[in-house]
Amino acid sequence: MGEPSAVEPDRASGEGAEDAVIATRALTKRYRGGQLAVDGLDLVVPAGSVFGFLGPNGSGKTTTIRMLMGLIEPTSGSARVLGRPVPRAARAVLPRVGALIEGPALYGFLSGRDNLLRYDAADPTADPRTRRDRVAAALDRVGLGAAAGKKAKAYSLGMKQRLGLAAALLQPRRLLVLDEPTNGLDPQGMREIRALVRELASDGTTVFLSSHLLDEIEQVCTHAAVMAQGRLIAQGAVADLAAGARGRLVVTTPDAGEAARVLKERGAGDVVAAEDRVTAEPPDGDLADLNAALVTAGVRVRGFSVERASLEDAFVALTGEGFDVAG
Ligand SMILES: Nc1ncnc2c1ncn2[C@@H]1O[C@H](COP(=O)(O)OP(=O)(O)OP(=O)(O)O)[C@@H](O)[C@H]1O
Ligand SMILES: [Mg+2]
Repeated sequence: MGEPSAVEPDRASGEGAEDAVIATRALTKRYRGGQLAVDGLDLVVPAGSVFGFLGPNGSGKTTTIRMLMGLIEPTSGSARVLGRPVPRAARAVLPRVGALIEGPALYGFLSGRDNLLRYDAADPTADPRTRRDRVAAALDRVGLGAAAGKKAKAYSLGMKQRLGLAAALLQPRRLLVLDEPTNGLDPQGMREIRALVRELASDGTTVFLSSHLLDEIEQVCTHAAVMAQGRLIAQGAVADLAAGARGRLVVTTPDAGEAARVLKERGAGDVVAAEDRVTAEPPDGDLADLNAALVTAGVRVRGFSVERASLEDAFVALTGEGFDVAG
């Protein structure tokens, strides 16, 4: 409350960075051991987006988030959060950012509620008179109301994750940065967190969340960036990313064997023939010609379509591989 409603103009900005809530330029982190964890990252997170930061284990998501939150220094490059440079202006920026980073720091001997009371007390801008109400509201919001009195060391992984999220929600924020917020949650818990993220976004909070789960990003995010081995492979609106990839071709026919032969001959990849259906990666070129070739070869085509591409198709197209951990 009482905060400026617009992001400050970004002085040393790149394209589209004016209304960016996070913008990085060639952001790079090499750990002391020599590991290049983040390599020349140019990230632009638009205001009001739910931005998915997607990448397999070890691709540099947490390292990036730690740099954005001023927890570690970049080796080179720069980052701006809410229009201000970090880590330089971290102290001014961070009160407006709620963060949940891998393994929230909790006092095991304190209850969930007492942990939050401590967090809130550490915030010099938080009014002590309304502290208990704020904490109760945050606990309710993440579904921990009933377990608030239990010691944090007796919490499950998912409960700890919820408590970390509650800490990030104690104050209204311009930006929420959530590192794998559904880690350790059961499917019901994951649905609840997704609903919460949507609700926060509809209130105008920009949400930046990392995940290694493609379908999770697809369900909740408006925008995404795809990381692999410390490098950015693609970023943009989720719909555009998926549209950049072609979905699978599906041919329905009683002549599946013959159809498969023609598709292979025409350069289709990964051809899978079932009883009355053949699916494949569509080859380059006009699909109408492919359909005509099938018919000319005597294949009785009952259905010919391309399924809508998913983010997973896009990822496979971008990296030429599945979503596995880099060695
Ligand atoms: N403190 C550190 N010292 C040295 N190397 C590190 C350190 N932290 C991470 N790394 C390495 O940097 C790379 C990126 O790690 P990071 O934790 O950023 O990945 P991530 O995308 O968050 O993975 P995950 O999905 O498993 O959380 C990995 O190769 C990792 O081994
Ligand atoms: Mg991580």
